[in-house]
Amino acid sequence: MIHSASNIDQGPGFYVALHRALAALFEGERDPIANTANMAALVFQEMERVSWAGFYFRRGAELVLGPFQGPPACIRIPFGEGVCGQAARSGKILRVEDVQAFPGHIACDPRARSELVIPLSVAGSVVGVFDLDSHVPGRFHESDEDGLATCVRLLEGAVDWPESRP
Ligand code: SME
Repeated sequence: MIHSASNIDQGPGFYVALHRALAALFEGERDPIANTANMAALVFQEMERVSWAGFYFRRGAELVLGPFQGPPACIRIPFGEGVCGQAARSGKILRVEDVQAFPGHIACDPRARSELVIPLSVAGSVVGVFDLDSHVPGRFHESDEDGLATCVRLLEGAVDWPESRP
């Protein structure tokens, strides 16, 4: 575990330590599957009250499940649908305090209550999303948006994306 300060739970240094740990994992490796798998594992391991962390990648008109940690999840999400599809279509971070009150939310896990989705962009195009779920309503805050968006920027620069497809 990262022994440093944290997000909400552990103090303000949490994301600094997470970014350092992520950069160390990416060091010397540019494979998209390897680096997205390790990023999902690191974030899931280090963040409290997160029930699922992982990737969906754009495949034409759909998002398709990629490396993740947590229970088995929905495999295909139409682009523009659900929290993930809406974030992918807009290219903007989507933070949902209560997924039960979010029109179009796709419930892979009936216990999921809050969600944070960060689009992944390569050469100006959205190629996928990084998605986090929690069983706790309102789990994610603006500080998580900022901290995890930096993780996604590190990933975007640490991978050779084949034809914009991982
Ligand atoms: N809830 C998401 C689907 C993906 S899972 O949470 C892993 C959505 O509405 O897009």
